[in-house]
Amino acid sequence: MSVSIRPAHGSDLPYLYEICLKTGFSGADAEALFDDPYMIGQYYAAPYLFFEPEFCFVAEEDSRPRGYILCASDTARFIPWFEGEWLPLLRKRYAEDHPARSDFERQILATIRRPLEPDPFAEAYPAHLHIDLLPVLQGKGCGRALVDTLVAALRARGVPGLHLGVGAANVNAIAFYRKLGFAALKEEDWGLVMGMRL
Ligand SMILES: CC(C)(COP(=O)(O)OP(=O)(O)OC[C@H]1O[C@@H](n2cnc3c(N)ncnc32)[C@H](O)[C@@H]1OP(=O)(O)O)[C@@H](O)C(=O)NCCC(=O)NCCS
Repeated sequence: MSVSIRPAHGSDLPYLYEICLKTGFSGADAEALFDDPYMIGQYYAAPYLFFEPEFCFVAEEDSRPRGYILCASDTARFIPWFEGEWLPLLRKRYAEDHPARSDFERQILATIRRPLEPDPFAEAYPAHLHIDLLPVLQGKGCGRALVDTLVAALRARGVPGLHLGVGAANVNAIAFYRKLGFAALKEEDWGLVMGMRL
């Protein structure tokens, strides 16, 4: 089956939510862990399509998006937008008494409620990304193709660096990023910040 990479479109939004949920638990399916199946995508996927769609791409197979790379090209500009425009409604929706089916859902609830801090990597590596592929597309070169596509778009705009956060348990993703040339920038208690100069 042939896979094509194309710029993301507004109509891809339901697929972004689906892919985010089905890969959300350190790369594994998180569907059974959530009372609200949209919660994780509301934080890690959807906002990027609204903030800067030109740096969002999907991998499509059989006319259906099955993977994405989502990016904010200037994290220092993204953070105040996310905090000011996107998160207030989510914080109302997910108030203190919101039900949670698992510790992981409670962790995402806490992440949504926590005020954002300035990103120390935003100066040297202004862009940050999220990439997820459904299992059917994994291990076939699509991840590399999505990163290459994003890197070309960022270079064309003169963005000098790109970074990301990856959970310590996601050893496959860490190996993938290393293979593509990302270096570890900082070890956190939750995982690694990795970056690449462009
Ligand atoms: C992690 C992920 C994006 C990688 O994409 P992918 O399409 O599976 O990876 P590719 O097939 O493009 O691999 C690219 C290169 O990385 C290498 N690689 C990928 N996974 C690897 C692993 N676990 N160990 C060692 N090398 C690995 C490949 O061998 C390949 O090398 P090559 O191009 O020199 O042959 C994808 O598997 C995925 O979405 N996983 C689930 C969600 C997830 O974990 N997202 C990241 C959250 S931080």
